[in-house]
Amino acid sequence: MISLETVTVRYGSTPAVSSLTEEIGSGEWVGLIGPNGAGKTTLLSAVAGLVTHDGAIRVDGETVSDLSPRHLARLVAYVPQQPVLPPDMTVGQYVLLGRTPHIGYFGFETTEDRRVCGVLLESLDLGAMAERRLATLSGGELQRLVLARALAQEAPVLLLDEPTSALDLGRRVEALELVDALRRERNLTVLSALHDLTLAGQFADRLVLLADGRAVAIGKPDEVLTEDVLTGHFGAHVRVLRSEGDLVVVPQRVR
Ligand SMILES: Nc1ncnc2c1ncn2[C@@H]1O[C@H](COP(=O)(O)OP(=O)(O)OP(=O)(O)O)[C@@H](O)[C@H]1O
Ligand SMILES: [Mg+2]
Repeated sequence: MISLETVTVRYGSTPAVSSLTEEIGSGEWVGLIGPNGAGKTTLLSAVAGLVTHDGAIRVDGETVSDLSPRHLARLVAYVPQQPVLPPDMTVGQYVLLGRTPHIGYFGFETTEDRRVCGVLLESLDLGAMAERRLATLSGGELQRLVLARALAQEAPVLLLDEPTSALDLGRRVEALELVDALRRERNLTVLSALHDLTLAGQFADRLVLLADGRAVAIGKPDEVLTEDVLTGHFGAHVRVLRSEGDLVVVPQRVR
């Protein structure tokens, strides 16, 4: 579904992603992990068509750099790490922005557009806030709203950049469970960057560990989330524990 072929992204002369080749299958959830500055956001924004790259990025067989923004928005929905949010817009208006690729030029939203948005706001616990201005929302409420907007797009590919960093423990799992349920229902393909390695391992089918813009480990969570691999690349001592089949990654203090 997402095909990356020797993808390189440079800011000036410095490569932030170097010669990355990977295939992500339809319906698969791949988690990007790696230390700060490893290139996770850069790779996601390249797939979202927001930064220029060398090599080829194809989504559903279409070359991303050849697509119009409207066409790309029907294929790919993106939750940025640092979304730009218009403070005076209401929650209801913002989530409807996700429907833009489905609304004709000069068209108005339909009952169906409003229904889709209403269901998502309810699922993300924002149903009572439709009239609230974005400036009045908490960090976690805003983050759930940005996810609602992306899901409202109903694109087959979902790119998530730290979508739960501001959420409390319960809502973190809830938001990812919603994504996972929609993935199963609609066969969505998900590419996410998550710093919470335990959650990354619980939700992703495969993990790609980036370091300095290169994929240094790729595989199932139990192949990538090992103490040796993580300690080597994160510059911290970690323990990887097992709890009822899940891997739990715990940072260790150096005493
Ligand atoms: N617009 C830009 N101009 C110049 N350098 C940039 C730009 N955006 C990112 N970089 C650099 O590219 C590298 C990769 O950044 P990126 O944001 O992709 O990292 P990341 O893996 O998402 O990190 P984090 O975990 O902190 O979100 C970093 O060194 C960063 O400083
Ligand atoms: Mg980032």
